[in-house]
Amino acid sequence: MIVVTGGAGFIGSNFVLDWLAAGGEPVVNLDKLTYAGNLENLRSLDDDARHVFVQGDIGDQPLVESLLARYQPRAVLNFAAESHVDRSIHAPGTFIETNVLGTFRLLEAVRGYWAALAGPAREQFRFLHVSTDEVYGSLAPQDPAFSEQHRYEPNSPYSASKAASDHLVRAYHHTYGLPVVTTNCSNNYGPYHFPEKLIPLIIVNALAGKPLPVYGDGQQIRDWLYVGDHCSAIRRVLAAGRLGETYNVGGWNEQPNIDIVHTVCRLLDELRPRGDGSRYETLITYVKDRPGHDRRYAIDARKIERELGWKPAETFASGIRKTVQWYLAHGDWVQRVQSGAYREWITTQYAQAA
Ligand code: NAD
Ligand code: TYD
Repeated sequence: MIVVTGGAGFIGSNFVLDWLAAGGEPVVNLDKLTYAGNLENLRSLDDDARHVFVQGDIGDQPLVESLLARYQPRAVLNFAAESHVDRSIHAPGTFIETNVLGTFRLLEAVRGYWAALAGPAREQFRFLHVSTDEVYGSLAPQDPAFSEQHRYEPNSPYSASKAASDHLVRAYHHTYGLPVVTTNCSNNYGPYHFPEKLIPLIIVNALAGKPLPVYGDGQQIRDWLYVGDHCSAIRRVLAAGRLGETYNVGGWNEQPNIDIVHTVCRLLDELRPRGDGSRYETLITYVKDRPGHDRRYAIDARKIERELGWKPAETFASGIRKTVQWYLAHGDWVQRVQSGAYREWITTQYAQAA
């Protein structure tokens, strides 16, 4: 068995689906089902005994302890987090609760479980912590990409809370010997991405004929990785990552936001042309910038390639085409996630940004 936390979210659900499709062991999936958690992502596993879903909080230590005692997993993979920078600016409290305190409680439960293991079970056990490149802060245009040695300089409540969780994971290895590995990945995109984040928001707004909001001058740079590639990197780090190490994961694909938006618009022009013959890019609207907006992220992913032989399989061209096609084929999924709570968020965020 393995335990996955946050397995009903964007990356976690992709991971669970890929893991089981690749013949991995059964998964206990612990997820609180916040606004970002969606069991519909896992519907194809409804009748699959290899997936056990438990609704709960990583910060509920007695619950986690009881799950570990019952299922005796050989690994715990921590995806659960509050993950949206803009939400962390509006309401940082839940980011501290889940990303910092929640990770702490989870580590405490795992430490107790691991300490009581013996022999090969104890030697083989792993705690894998899924983190982000945002902990490293922002780069100037000519700076080298983030390596694992880069100083932590988080700038948003989200990245600060993730940085704190990374430090706790590191400290549990250093102090207690807990067998941990951490991944720091760049921006993901792909199926089941909640449409509050840039790429899915642009796709769903474009299809609805709504403005495509670009913050500031649109020249902020991110590295984009197809979610399936992130999942394969996590599998590889779990299998062969060195204990106590961190691995940067990226797509070698730095692009300014405005270029990403234009690419999505061009794909939609091709795959779902607008009825009136106009181009989707006419919907692009520059809006007020995000406070403290990081200018550039870039990942040096040479360590994971050198040590573990991992490289992304998708190019951006292939991954973004698959992604747009997925959203075109899953209008019902999009419609269902655009609940009252989603509409409230969009109104709050973009009324202020306009
Ligand atoms: P997401 O917001 O889509 O999903 C988070 C999941 O965690 C949801 O299912 C939610 O219900 C669950 N959750 C939240 N609080 C919880 C709690 N207290 N207890 C249990 N479950 C809880 O996020 P995502 O984009 O899938 O990101 C997953 C992880 O990967 C996060 O740790 C994030 O920091 C990291 N990450 C994300 C990206 C990205 O581009 N999305 C990039 C690098 C790293
Ligand atoms: P996002 O998907 O929120 O990821 P992150 O902030 O974690 O990198 O945003 C990606 C980039 O797109 C970021 O520079 C902010 C920008 N952005 C917009 O320009 N408009 C939007 O409506 C959103 C949600 C993001």
